[in-house]
Amino acid sequence: MEWTKEMRYQRLENVSEETMEELRERVENCQWRQTFHIQPPTGLLNDPNGFSFYNGEYHLFYQWFPLGPVHGLKYWYHTKSKDLAYWENVGIAIKPDHFYDSHGAYSGSGIVKDNELYLMYTGNTRNDNWERTPYQVIAIMNKDGEISKQANPVIFGVPDGYTDHFRDPKLFKKGEHYYAVIGAQREDKTGCVVLFESANLQNWSFLGEVKTDIQPFGYMWECPDYFELDDKGILVFSPQGISPQGNSYQNIYQSGYLIGDKLNIPQLKFSHGDFAEIDRGFDFYAPQTMLAPDGRRILVGWMGLPELDYPTDENGWAHCLTLPRELTLKDNKLIQQPVKELAKRRKRKESIRTTIKNETITPFKGTAFELICEINALHAKSLGVELRAKENEKTVVEYKVKEKTIELDRSKSGKSVGEEYGTVRRCTLEQCIKLHVFVDISSVEIFINDGEEVFTSRIFPQADSEEIRIFVNDGEASIVAEKWDLS
Ligand code: FRU
Repeated sequence: MEWTKEMRYQRLENVSEETMEELRERVENCQWRQTFHIQPPTGLLNDPNGFSFYNGEYHLFYQWFPLGPVHGLKYWYHTKSKDLAYWENVGIAIKPDHFYDSHGAYSGSGIVKDNELYLMYTGNTRNDNWERTPYQVIAIMNKDGEISKQANPVIFGVPDGYTDHFRDPKLFKKGEHYYAVIGAQREDKTGCVVLFESANLQNWSFLGEVKTDIQPFGYMWECPDYFELDDKGILVFSPQGISPQGNSYQNIYQSGYLIGDKLNIPQLKFSHGDFAEIDRGFDFYAPQTMLAPDGRRILVGWMGLPELDYPTDENGWAHCLTLPRELTLKDNKLIQQPVKELAKRRKRKESIRTTIKNETITPFKGTAFELICEINALHAKSLGVELRAKENEKTVVEYKVKEKTIELDRSKSGKSVGEEYGTVRRCTLEQCIKLHVFVDISSVEIFINDGEEVFTSRIFPQADSEEIRIFVNDGEASIVAEKWDLS
């Protein structure tokens, strides 16, 4: 089906209940609906937004186009959780219903002030000639979960020197002041991040561009995030227009970070090291972080990418969010671990302890599970796991000992996705001693060596591809593996 502009900008209020019911039914009949990931009730989910802790609960919103698996008029959809493990669908949070967000309530973030949750986002607008003007907007959620927009927009249009690609405010507070980093494109078509300051979240002044050392680097930086961890400043963003280089930058768009000294706000200077990708998998974009009440920095990403078709499209929905991950720093590198609360979802447990030699074993079965596999290789050429496997299907994680590389191969994972961008992702790794894997009906998240590297990907296997295999080629390894079904 071709999605015309009229269809993409149709308002949900004008769609009949019967049409929505039909769509819901089509979505529910999809064989790839997830069991423990946040996914849209219908239509398309993209960026996580407004991730915060307010009034005793975690709040996580996402970009939502309700009517089908395409990008169109965006709403914010609201989910909440008491524990980061179980999420409740609340419903639509922000509608694109004012002149300043007429063509979409685009991405943004949240911060608590005076017992209310302030959500700042980009109002996307288009005129009759389809020319874009972005506005930055504030919506306020109270303790009853009511959201109102007042005195908007708080930032009109774009400062001189930038194009209309100017969006995705991420709020943070330092001392008495609030700041927003915003993703931007310069008039010379290169990407960057700019900084605004406010004393009250309503009146904003433009401070200027954050000076980094990696210029030029792509044509647009989307969804920036700035936070401090230990004594470092970390700038996360999703640059577009970076060409593949070795094992890196293989996806259509990237997401990564710079680590440096804390941002020098008066001088707008950020001194940092090299850009590093956050995730090594096929489907990861536009992550956002929040600070949990106990001081943990937690990240959630969009498990998808723009401009690619996915097999769920024909059932009227697309994409999900990643599991929440705790971030820590080790040797100037971000380490990502699934949040500990996810253990609450563990059901039946099975485990094995064995030594295997030039063989593949199938100790477990499952389609929605967590697996922790500790491996001690005693001379082996390669080793790894095969997930969602049967005769001719498998998703393979393999560590090649001599090459010191780990790879995820989804060439036999079932229905293909984005094959034009390749079917294998890999990165270098000194040694592989632990694989911590979360598999859902249509995704894998693989945490290696307690979060040193992570591969996140959608997969679309058949329902009966449920073998979980462990293998060693040309050698021997001792294995301790534990597996839980996840509810
Ligand atoms: C990133 C993005 C953002 C924008 C949003 C619109 O995926 O393009 O830059 O705010 O999606 O849905």
